[in-house]
Amino acid sequence: MTVARPSPYSGDGRIRPALENGQGYTFGGQDVIMAGLEWSDDLSVGYGPIDEEHKKLIDLVNDLDAAVSSGQDADVVGGFLEELINYTVYHFRNEERIMEAHGYPDALAHKVQHTELTEAAEDLQTRFLDGDHDLADTLIPFLTDWLTGHIMVTDRALGRYVAGKA
Ligand SMILES: [Fe+2]
Ligand SMILES: [Fe+2]
Repeated sequence: MTVARPSPYSGDGRIRPALENGQGYTFGGQDVIMAGLEWSDDLSVGYGPIDEEHKKLIDLVNDLDAAVSSGQDADVVGGFLEELINYTVYHFRNEERIMEAHGYPDALAHKVQHTELTEAAEDLQTRFLDGDHDLADTLIPFLTDWLTGHIMVTDRALGRYVAGKA
């Protein structure tokens, strides 16, 4: 059954938690409510091929989120994390190919953001694999917030540019 949820995007680049799903985790002594990302037109960049990959990314964040929230073992959580990072890298490469193919003028700044996220995510993954399993609770808000912010601003500018030239 699908439960309707409001858009997770609050309009300022931050994620609005889905309060009604009643799930969450504790971070730094505070209860953090699960983000519960769901695709909506708010997240569309106006270019179908990129949107389709973003939907898959959101699914993978939610899979990771569900694994952490349901208390799965570290190796299971680690597997979902690996899958998410691999797909993120694949997706970034695809966007970078699109930028190149269209002579996108802001490609460099966009690629810098991809590199920064990849490095930060891989650093968190390394710490997780080294045994810092509490990190799982911080990973999802980080990834959710970053990915959504990047999609809504940076990827949308690219999507509009490419769609306008198509
Ligand atoms: Fe991007
Ligand atoms: Fe993207």
